[in-house]
Amino acid sequence: MNKPSNVVIIGGGVIGLSLAWRLARGGTAVTILERDHMGRSASWVAAGMLAPISEAAFDDHVYVHFARASMARFPSFIEELQTDADMPVALDTRGTLVVARDRDDAEYIRRAYEYRRSIGLPVQWMDGAEARDAEPALSPRIVAAMAIPDDHQVDTRGFISALVRACETRRVTLRENTAVTRVVVEGERVSGVETVNGFVPADTVVLAAGAWSASIDGIPPDCVPPVRPVKGQLVRLRRTASFPLTHVIRAPRAYLLPKHDGTVVVGATQEEMGFDLDPTAGGIHDILRHAWELVPGIDDLPFEGVEVGLRPGSRDNHPVMGNTRVPGLVMATGHFRHGILLAPGSADALATGITGGHFTGAEHFSPARFAEAHAHPA
Ligand code: GLY
Repeated sequence: MNKPSNVVIIGGGVIGLSLAWRLARGGTAVTILERDHMGRSASWVAAGMLAPISEAAFDDHVYVHFARASMARFPSFIEELQTDADMPVALDTRGTLVVARDRDDAEYIRRAYEYRRSIGLPVQWMDGAEARDAEPALSPRIVAAMAIPDDHQVDTRGFISALVRACETRRVTLRENTAVTRVVVEGERVSGVETVNGFVPADTVVLAAGAWSASIDGIPPDCVPPVRPVKGQLVRLRRTASFPLTHVIRAPRAYLLPKHDGTVVVGATQEEMGFDLDPTAGGIHDILRHAWELVPGIDDLPFEGVEVGLRPGSRDNHPVMGNTRVPGLVMATGHFRHGILLAPGSADALATGITGGHFTGAEHFSPARFAEAHAHPA
């Protein structure tokens, strides 16, 4: 396979930026075309939880393996990023508590705990008093918790800003306000993209447009990734000196993260509302009420604002990464709730695949799984 000489990435979110940086470090010429501003869409809103163990679905071994590998790569990825960006990126390793405020939640978390133990994941069981010893901000009504010391969080905005800076250091061409209108396929292979500012030639085009990945013309119908927007609303509160939260707190209906910038992120709704970006009274009421039941002290925190992001969810909610049947057209989308966590693993696998032909570690996420369903509808 020939090494690409000119890669165009559609989308400057966390996946596009991470991939561009890794490719450029390896000497490949890369351009990112972003319809808005680099990293300011779903990636900017993302809470930044790195939760391969908290979010491990029952029997989803392939995903858990990939997510844990990406988590394991995070510290070295950040170290290299800090060097290239010449700025710090805060990785918070104080851990996660998944808490239960009634018997129903406790039963659910107990099953989750037992499953994780059965596959060897590092989790600990706590009763309510032990959970409050670990995190005094928790409500006296918390009856049990699963502690996950290895699920961390990152300063999302520092991470994104560093990726932009590192791309600049490595001479990635970053073009903002440059929406791609069409992928151009000529003579059976990709030749570039049409944008609102004209044609951009490329021997490899990577579709990393997040929730918008199915909206770009020119891609043969059987290669269009089945990706949809999944709306998430969240709230930012300002942490005061007397508010002591140190862990990521999760429960079945809400999560809270004490962020490096002095805010507390409270999230998140998960709604199938198309491309609607409006915050709603009901959505915000729900997440604040559920979060307040876990950590009542949020009542007194100043309100900073509401944010809405669109997660790119594929048909099976797993990433879509790898070559398509059109030579030169590569997918890098569908990271759903886990774009930040999966950025290191995805960028490494995609960069290896684009330059060497094999998407090591990401084989199970090939777009081919959907193309086969397209060819043989049930
Ligand atoms: N990663 C958390 C969320 O998508 O809400």
